[in-house]
Amino acid sequence: ARPIGVAVLGMGNVGTEVVRIITDNANDLEARVGAPVELRGVAVRDLSKPRGIDPSLLTDKPEELITRDDVDIVVELIGGIDPPRMLIREALQGGKSVVTANKALLADYTGELATAAAGAKVDLYFEAAVAGAIPVIRPLMQSLAGDTVTRVAGIVNGTTNFILSAMDADGSDYAETLAEAGRLGYAEADPTADVEGYDAAAKAAILASIAFHSRVTALNVYREGISKITTHDLESAKALDCTVKLLSICERIVDEDGTQRISARVYPALVPLAHPLASVNGAFNAVVVEAENAGRLMFYGQGAGGAPTASAVLGDMVMAARNKVHGGRGPLESTYASLPIAPMGDV
Ligand code: HSE
Repeated sequence: ARPIGVAVLGMGNVGTEVVRIITDNANDLEARVGAPVELRGVAVRDLSKPRGIDPSLLTDKPEELITRDDVDIVVELIGGIDPPRMLIREALQGGKSVVTANKALLADYTGELATAAAGAKVDLYFEAAVAGAIPVIRPLMQSLAGDTVTRVAGIVNGTTNFILSAMDADGSDYAETLAEAGRLGYAEADPTADVEGYDAAAKAAILASIAFHSRVTALNVYREGISKITTHDLESAKALDCTVKLLSICERIVDEDGTQRISARVYPALVPLAHPLASVNGAFNAVVVEAENAGRLMFYGQGAGGAPTASAVLGDMVMAARNKVHGGRGPLESTYASLPIAPMGDV
């Protein structure tokens, strides 16, 4: 079969791992897709930085890379709203399927991008945007598509969980542990997004949108971060047989008259030590999903870091490539917003 061409935008922690896996696992990927998967180019900001890959693959003009005829799939790992928003929209409109890990963008523009994907009959996948390696988007969109999800709650930011776990374990210093999270590739370029809960709020908006087939944006999510949490708070929690975790909670609320509303919120919470979320430590994430018929499901794994996040990106890339080769489409626009449920807003 005709090879599938892939363009990777961004070569940070995740992009570097994605390029490595595409190169190292070429034979396996070809077998799984049913056609060779070929890297057409990697867009980077600084061309002079050594990247350890064939320099002829590098470009600082992503807008040219995404319009090439031999590119079928665009993998966006730049992060932030602009330029990714324009690049993804252009790629979709040009008939390329898009895989992205960009939670900040999706939190506010899933509707716009899903419409563009639907219009061009291509795929838009973003498993890596929430909880790193953990499959949670696809289970919510596909495995639970016939059920009614009532609640999605958990730990979806690795950096803050790494900090809180270290402070809890041995009284580690907040600022030092945050710096360590940066060195390990967990924290965002601007770690304010992590410690002030913006990253977790973006993920909550995405989870709520998908779980409840509605449109929830980051502005609809109540948000508190962990920057005011001290080792003293963690000691006090321990005295109550609890620990402190930054939780993201999305709930479908049904009023007495049958009106449905969505509550989405992020805040540091006291979690009893006997609760399964209390033993989620380091950069691990966990998401508990409750659905009317499935009951309670728990998803657990590495929520941040280059290779774990790249694993989720590659899974999406294989799905998109298979669809390109064999026909078929990923979730349709109606998956995201078929129900007119009003988000409650910043309560
Ligand atoms: N900064 C994010 C985190 C990366 O710590 O969870 C994964 O989205």
